[in-house]
Amino acid sequence: MYIAVIGSGYVGLPTACGLASFGNDVVCIDTNKEKLKLLQSGIIPLYEEGLQELYESVKENLKFSGDVSDIKKAELIILAVGTPMSDDGSADLQYIYQATQDIKPYLQNGAIVATKSTVPIGTNDEIERIIDRSDVTVVSMPEFLREGYALQDFFNPDRIIIGTDNISVFNKLRNLYIQHIPSEKIIRTNRRSAELIKYASNAFLATKIQFINEISDLCEKVDADVADVAAGMGLDTRIGRKFLNAGIGYGGSCFPKDTNALEYMANKNGVKLGIVSSTIKGNHDRRFNIAARINKYISDIDGDARVAILGLAFKNGTDDIRYSPAIDIIQNITHNPIYVYDPKAMNNAKNVLGANVIFTKSLKDCVKDADVIAILTEWPDFKELENMTFDKNTVILDYRNILDEAIMRKKPHVTYKRIGQKI
Ligand code: UDX
Ligand code: UDX
Repeated sequence: MYIAVIGSGYVGLPTACGLASFGNDVVCIDTNKEKLKLLQSGIIPLYEEGLQELYESVKENLKFSGDVSDIKKAELIILAVGTPMSDDGSADLQYIYQATQDIKPYLQNGAIVATKSTVPIGTNDEIERIIDRSDVTVVSMPEFLREGYALQDFFNPDRIIIGTDNISVFNKLRNLYIQHIPSEKIIRTNRRSAELIKYASNAFLATKIQFINEISDLCEKVDADVADVAAGMGLDTRIGRKFLNAGIGYGGSCFPKDTNALEYMANKNGVKLGIVSSTIKGNHDRRFNIAARINKYISDIDGDARVAILGLAFKNGTDDIRYSPAIDIIQNITHNPIYVYDPKAMNNAKNVLGANVIFTKSLKDCVKDADVIAILTEWPDFKELENMTFDKNTVILDYRNILDEAIMRKKPHVTYKRIGQKI
């Protein structure tokens, strides 16, 4: 099939490369000139494990273009432009509607427009109204890619949701995946249910995280251990162990945006989503109480402390710092200077962090002579700390609970603290 993907971001690029690897001819359109220049010179301008290599293997049938008229041969046009959060919490749909206007003049007869970006319930009805062509079918096909695992999630999805009442269009899209994905994982539903499945899934996952973070706070007061509590809970197959890792709260371009958008659209429909609202508030507040904890440890150091923060990205495996808790926490640490290190997100963070932040070249450089070290992103690289010795008294705040506790507690001069244990 000839496919056009509009938007070459964290969703558009893995989707374009993945569909090209299935043998489709794909053109990926983007309005961002700098990004396009990089893509057309063969450089993938974002970090996603394995994406550059996959692109190298499909570049014969994957083209990048800034000219939206290149979609005219496409039977399927996938919308994957950003739908960021507006100030009032609603999804900002300017880009999705702009993209719809852009493609409208070039849609061939019988084309399918599939919206992969996360859009509020009813948005695809509006896209259909804008396109205003009875021969063109607008479908909701939400993405479920996790950043850092986008290719894993593309090639081994838990489900492909196709929101349309048009059975022949459903079958066409099903055929796109059927050779590669078990048929029982390709689900048809109506468009609005497909739109809501995405929001409800993300909001539930975010709620799981906020739930375990609240339980973690209780563990600290009653001398329980949240890692054991999560393990014990997770053995209940109805609960499941995933997304029960206590930490500093969720970030990223999705959970914050999607929980707020869901709350907004529910309120607009006169429905109170109390659980989602408390997840949003609790998660937001958490990053400031984590900063307060770190400030307290710093203030307990005699003289001028050297402070090292490990992790800037909102999670491991990505260079993305959108709504990263680490960024907010650093901006609320009162000490100056603060030494930071992140394996992938330094360049993005340099655009937002202030002059009091010193970007170090390596983990070792960052933690050298530090009095307080805080781990804020769950990069496996930071397990290197387990092999280090510390010549002076050092407080290590493992706020993602990633280090081996037994090893860290044996280290001379180290005071090791985890989330969800007696403080
Ligand atoms: C997107 C959506 O924001 C979100 O709804 C979904 O859940 C995740 O996918 P993401 O892929 O991270 O997020 O968006 P982003 O990384 O911002 O990429 C969007 C791309 O679309 C950018 O490269 C931008 O230049 C491009 N774009 C934007 C267009 O080509 N045309 C436009 O009109 C607007
Ligand atoms: C999420 C959804 O997982 C994905 O299905 C959807 O398509 C897009 O949004 P993503 O935002 O890339 O993916 O990241 P995810 O892996 O879900 O993590 C989100 C945040 O939660 C990160 O800040 C992560 O550090 C945090 N997290 C995750 C926890 O704090 N604890 C956990 O147990 C899991």
